[in-house]
Amino acid sequence: MDLQKLLNEMTVDEKLAQMTQLVPQIITDKGEGVVTGPMRNFGITRQVTSKIGSLLGASGAEQIKTLQDFHLDEDPKKIPLLFMADVIHGYRTLYPVPLGLGASFDEELAEKCCAMAAKEAAAGGIHVTFAPMVDLARDARWGRCMETTGEDPYLNSKMSAAMVRGFQGKDLEHEKDKIAACVKHFAAYGACEGGRDYDCVELGDHTLREYYMPAYKAAVDEGVELVMTSFNTLNGIPSSANKYLVDDILRKEWGFDGIVISDFNAFYELISHGICEGEKECAKKSLDATSDIEMMSTCYVKFGKQLLEEGQITEKQLDDAVMRILKLKEKLGLFDDPYRGANAEDEKKIHLCAEHRALARVAAEKSAVLLKNDGVLPFKKDVKKIAVIGPVADHGMIGGWFCCGTIPEAVSTLDGIKNIAKDAEVVFALGCTADPNEEAAAVADKIAEAKKIAKDADAVVICVGEEIDMSGEAHSRARVSVSDSQTTLIKEVCEVNKNTAVVLHCGRPIAVEKINEIAPAIIVYWQPGTEGGNALANLLFGEVNFEGKLPMTFPREGQSPFYYNHLRTGRPNVSTGYCLGYRDIPYDPVYPFGYGLSYTTFEISSPTLSGNEMTEDGEITVTVDVKNTGSVAGIETVQLYINDVTASVCRPVKEMKGYKKVSLVPGEETSVTFKITVDDLKFHTASGKFEAEKGKFKVFVSNRSDVEDFAEFKLI
Ligand code: GLC
Repeated sequence: MDLQKLLNEMTVDEKLAQMTQLVPQIITDKGEGVVTGPMRNFGITRQVTSKIGSLLGASGAEQIKTLQDFHLDEDPKKIPLLFMADVIHGYRTLYPVPLGLGASFDEELAEKCCAMAAKEAAAGGIHVTFAPMVDLARDARWGRCMETTGEDPYLNSKMSAAMVRGFQGKDLEHEKDKIAACVKHFAAYGACEGGRDYDCVELGDHTLREYYMPAYKAAVDEGVELVMTSFNTLNGIPSSANKYLVDDILRKEWGFDGIVISDFNAFYELISHGICEGEKECAKKSLDATSDIEMMSTCYVKFGKQLLEEGQITEKQLDDAVMRILKLKEKLGLFDDPYRGANAEDEKKIHLCAEHRALARVAAEKSAVLLKNDGVLPFKKDVKKIAVIGPVADHGMIGGWFCCGTIPEAVSTLDGIKNIAKDAEVVFALGCTADPNEEAAAVADKIAEAKKIAKDADAVVICVGEEIDMSGEAHSRARVSVSDSQTTLIKEVCEVNKNTAVVLHCGRPIAVEKINEIAPAIIVYWQPGTEGGNALANLLFGEVNFEGKLPMTFPREGQSPFYYNHLRTGRPNVSTGYCLGYRDIPYDPVYPFGYGLSYTTFEISSPTLSGNEMTEDGEITVTVDVKNTGSVAGIETVQLYINDVTASVCRPVKEMKGYKKVSLVPGEETSVTFKITVDDLKFHTASGKFEAEKGKFKVFVSNRSDVEDFAEFKLI
C-alpha cells in the first residue's frame, strides 16, 4: 500500500477522524450512541463516524468482522479500523493480575502469559492491547497497584520488556497470533497524591527519571508500538498535553516514533484540569504534545479544521499523526486482510484450551507468596474433613480488567480443593462478606457457622481480602487493612482450629499486622485468574512449592506510601526519639519487598567479590553459595542489591540490580554469581547527567530486601 499516496488523497476531515477512537456502539447505533449518551453529546454526525480510525472495546471474531465490514462499506477511503482492547492479564483464559505476575520474579513466565493472551485476543479480532501497564506503585491505597508489577524500577523494567515481547513477538507483521502492545500510563500515574486515583503528581526530574521512567523506556526500547498518556498532571500539566513529557522526552530523547494515544476522554478533561478553555484548546494542546489518537472524546474532529484554518496547527502535524496510524495498520497487514486472522473456529479451539489453562495455573502457583507458616502447611494429603471458609472462596477470583474471561469459567478455591481432595469431606461457610467496613457484630451468625464447621475439621482454609471489584481503576482506598469482620472471623476460627491457613485475595498490598498475630499461616494470592482454585489446592497440599516474592512492600495501616528503595535521610530510623518514623506505629513494614517463604529453607552465604576495586571499564563478580537446608525441593529467588554510599545526589539505601531463581533439592548447594558493571552504578547525578560516580558501593545478596549483611567495593 502506498501510504504517502493514500495520505495525500485524504481530506482534513478524514485525517481528523482517523485520529479519533470511539466505542463500537457509536458507529452502529442508528443515531443514539449508548455508552456515552446520544451521538449528539459528542457533537458529531455519521459524516465523522463513517471515517473513524479505531474502536475500543469490541471483542469476538464475528462482532469484529461485522464491524469492519460495516465500516469499510461506509469509509470512502476504505481504511480498515484498528480494534483495541484491555487485554491486561489474559483475554479469555486469565492468569494472575500483573501485581501477582510481578511476584513470580519470572519474566519468561510473564512473556509466555502475554503470548498466550495475544494468541487468544488475535483470534478474537483484537489488533492492539492497552498493556503492559508499568506505572511504578509505592502506595497501597492506590487501586491500580493491581495492574502493575510493583515498586521496583528494575523488576518493572524486566517485566515491561518481557510483556511487550510476549504480546508483539519478534515480527508483528507476519506473526498473526501476536498483537501490538501499548505501554501505559505515561507517565508516573502511580505517584498520584495520597494514592487517590486521578490525583495530581508532583515529581522532581530526578525522581521521575530514576524510579518512574525506566519501565516505560524498557517497553520503548523493546519496540512497543503505542504509548498511552495518563490522566494525571505531572508538575501541573496533564500528561495528554504535556509537551515536555511526550514530545521532548518520549519522542525526541528516547526516539519513540510510534503512536501516542490518550486515555479515555482525557483530552476533554483538560478543561476540568483548568488548562483549556474549551475543546478547541484541548485539541490544540494535545496535538502540540504530539498525541496521535484521541480516545473517547471528539476535540480533534470538531475543532481540528478550524485550528488549521486559523494557522494554530499545521497540516504536517496532522500528517505525522495519521502516517503513524497508517503505518501500524500496514504493519498489521490490515490493508490486505482487514480481519487479520480473526476466526471464530480458532476462538473455539484455543480459548480456555487445556494448554492455556495449564499455563494460567502455573502462573497462579508461581505468583503466590507464603508470608507465614507455623507448621500448618502443607496439609496432609489424607485429610478426612476440610473446612473452606470466607467470602471469596466459592467463586472464581479472576481479578479486575478481566476482558472476555468470566467467573463461572474460573475455578474457585472451594472447587480446587474438591478437585484435589477427592476422598475428603469438604464443607463451606461464608463467615462474612468482603465489605471492608463490615463489623463483626453484623455477621456474628455467619462467624458462628464458620466456627462450627471448622471445629472438627482436619484442615481449614479461610479466603478473605478483596473482591475482584475492590481494586482497579477508581478503586483507591484510604484504609488497606483487613476488615473487622474478617479479622474476627480469622481470630475465632483459629481459636477452635490451629490447623488453619489464611489466603488473602488482593489487588494491592494489605496491612496484615493484625492477622499476622493470630493466623498460623498466611498466603498472599492476589487475584489469581481462571485456574486460581486448582493452583491454590496444589500449593496447600504441597503438590507444588511456593516461590513468589513480594513485588511491593506490605505496610502497616497508615504507613503508605512505603517502599524499600527509600533514601536514608539525615535521621534514619536507627533509634527512638528524633528520627524517621511515626510515634504510634513501628517504622518497619510488616513484610518487605522481595520477601516470600517456601516449604523448604535456604541458606545464602555472605557475598564475596572478585575484587574490592573496579574501574569504569571493569566488572565485579559477586558470588554467593545457596543451599537447600530443608526437606523438600524448592526454588529460591536470589536478589542482588547495591547502595551507592556517597554521591552527588542522595541514593537509596538499596537498589535491586539483579535476581536469579535457583531450583535445589534438599541438601543441594550451588553458587550464584552476578556481574556488576559501571552500567549498574549509573544514575541521574546532580549535574543531570546519567553516569556513575567514583566511590564506595555496598553489595547485598539475599532472598529479601531488608538484609543487612554486605560486601563493599570502590569504583575508582
Ligand atoms: C481506562 C484506563 C485505561 C484503559 C482505557 C481503555 O480509563 O485508564 O488503562 O486502557 O480506559 O479502557
